[in-house]
Amino acid sequence: MTVPTIQTAGLTKGYGDICALKPLDLQVAEGEWLSVMGHSGSGKSTLMNLVGGLDRPSGGSLSVGGQDLSALSEDGLARFRREFVGIIFQQHHLVPYLSAVENVMLSQYFHSVPDEAEARLALERVGLGHRLKNRPGELSGGEQQRVCIARAIINSPKLLLGDEPTGNLDHKSTVMVLELLKELRAEDRFTVVLVTHNEEVAAWGDRTIYLDDGVLVREERLRS
Ligand SMILES: Nc1ncnc2c1ncn2[C@@H]1O[C@H](COP(=O)(O)OP(=O)(O)OP(=O)(O)O)[C@@H](O)[C@H]1O
Ligand SMILES: [Mg+2]
Repeated sequence: MTVPTIQTAGLTKGYGDICALKPLDLQVAEGEWLSVMGHSGSGKSTLMNLVGGLDRPSGGSLSVGGQDLSALSEDGLARFRREFVGIIFQQHHLVPYLSAVENVMLSQYFHSVPDEAEARLALERVGLGHRLKNRPGELSGGEQQRVCIARAIINSPKLLLGDEPTGNLDHKSTVMVLELLKELRAEDRFTVVLVTHNEEVAAWGDRTIYLDDGVLVREERLRS
């Protein structure tokens, strides 16, 4: 059996008195698409933030891509995020005064070196070759999320995280974004962890886990 990309044992996260994640044992295989569901406040974003190295565990073990995240220094964790992870949020978090291509180049800048030709290619790949010079405010919600996908994949991450990436989109744009993620995953074979409130969105994954009050209460395999 191959070593899972994500492996947790007794993973917990507390914020003061609040126990946002109760001891969690989870394994996610390389290349798997995991959907994470649960009501508001159940710990979905908490889990995503831990796995993406955006936050640190309170207890238990957490290994991602063979790295023990709790053992990494702040610099090590920043390097892990830069080299291993791509993230798409519900709110796009694009820089409003930069064009689409500049937003993607900014991500290259933080990773290594900006390369406009490569950034253009990534935007063409997400169907935005004709909107390179437009700023986020001049793009539709679905187009903005596609810029975010281009930005998330530009540095070839091994793990793509989405926290309700289609939460603000209509049905047509949602399908477009998910179809695109599916195609990109088939090409680049990255692992996907996608938080959603929507069963239809979750059904695009290989497996869904359900959190309730910080506990993994159920899981459902949709395809192997
Ligand atoms: N930085 C923080 N400080 C204090 N409490 C927090 C913090 N982040 C999350 N929490 C608490 O932890 C619990 C889990 O929050 P989390 O954001 O993981 O929920 P969620 O499942 O993503 O919810 P939603 O669907 O509303 O986004 C909640 O009770 C929340 O209030
Ligand atoms: Mg959340």
